[in-house]
Amino acid sequence: MHTKVLLPDESSYAFASDLLKQGKLVAFPTETVYGLGADALNKNAVLSIFEAKGRPADNPLIVHIHDRSQLDELCSIPPLAEPLMDAFWPGPLTMLFIRKPSVPPEVTAGLPTVAIRMPSHPVAAAMLKACGLPVAAPSANRSGRPSPTTAAHVLEDMNDRIPLILDGGACDVGLESTVLDLCHEQPTILRPGGVTKDMLESVLGREVLLAGSILRPLGENEVALSPGMRYKHYAPKGAVTLIDGPEERTVPLLRRLCLEQKQAGKKSCVLCFTEHLESLSDCDPHDIGSASSPDEIAHRLFDTLRRLDEEGMEIVFSEVIPPEGMGLAVMNRLGRAAAFRTIHA
Ligand code: TXA
Ligand code: MG
Repeated sequence: MHTKVLLPDESSYAFASDLLKQGKLVAFPTETVYGLGADALNKNAVLSIFEAKGRPADNPLIVHIHDRSQLDELCSIPPLAEPLMDAFWPGPLTMLFIRKPSVPPEVTAGLPTVAIRMPSHPVAAAMLKACGLPVAAPSANRSGRPSPTTAAHVLEDMNDRIPLILDGGACDVGLESTVLDLCHEQPTILRPGGVTKDMLESVLGREVLLAGSILRPLGENEVALSPGMRYKHYAPKGAVTLIDGPEERTVPLLRRLCLEQKQAGKKSCVLCFTEHLESLSDCDPHDIGSASSPDEIAHRLFDTLRRLDEEGMEIVFSEVIPPEGMGLAVMNRLGRAAAFRTIHA
């Protein structure tokens, strides 16, 4: 199957809409990452998402809508959700609601809840409006690869596997949406993203919990609140190690560890802040953005991880940022890329 990459305009929206109505797949940009969409109410279309991605069938999908009137047929809404929708939709917040029978169990991997989000990206909004369907869409990467943040990333993973990619340029946020569980007693963040714990708490006026395994591996007998947390995600082929500690110790340690590996003949590099590029110039430094801008680091992270594989990196040492605000989302993804291996300088 030839994969077309089209710029968004009236005719490509009409084409995307036709494909979706026929049960075919369309990759499209959102403000977080690119999604791989199918008609959420068409079971076979949904199954073909799992096939194209090589995704385990027990990992549920997010349903994307452009208007709240679409919610009625999909789920029932707890009262807590209303102020959050007012504050953060459209935007990078996914909420779990109680699923109604119209949603095929293939979308929710048999769970009683369905994840819903209203993206703010104009291309996503226009495509959702053109087709009028709720669109189930995971990130448009092959399973186990970093989420795509450009149309070129999607093409790397999906060439000849899907008919259409809508090219809306680079995604703004660069990390996937915040996933918030509102179906249990306490609102709980299952996956941190652009809408932070503080932002949610200030709207709700109450505490929002963080799922335990956001900054550490899932324990052997621990039940994953979100099935996605069970899988090894976002991991480049090389071994990544995080270096934690005060700057005056981390930078020399990054340098020493990387140079040791180079001497041992390993293809190795460091992921470092813009501010440290010069001090680490003999370590093949990869700029992850300024230490003072977690948003910039988020925006670049997945592209950087993809490049490590292209370059055949075997050993990677990375700086870390405080796990606060957007930094929590960054450290969740970077931590998983490193299987949470950390050396304290
Ligand atoms: O930003 C995003 O959320 C992107 C764009 C395309 O919208 N989508 C995305 O989808 O990241 P995906 O499938 O890669 O990640 C969805 C996550 C998975 O970890 C999945 O396990 C979790 O949400 N999830 C979905 N439905 C769930 C449910 N009913 N209960 C618990 N977790 C759920
Ligand atoms: Mg994904």
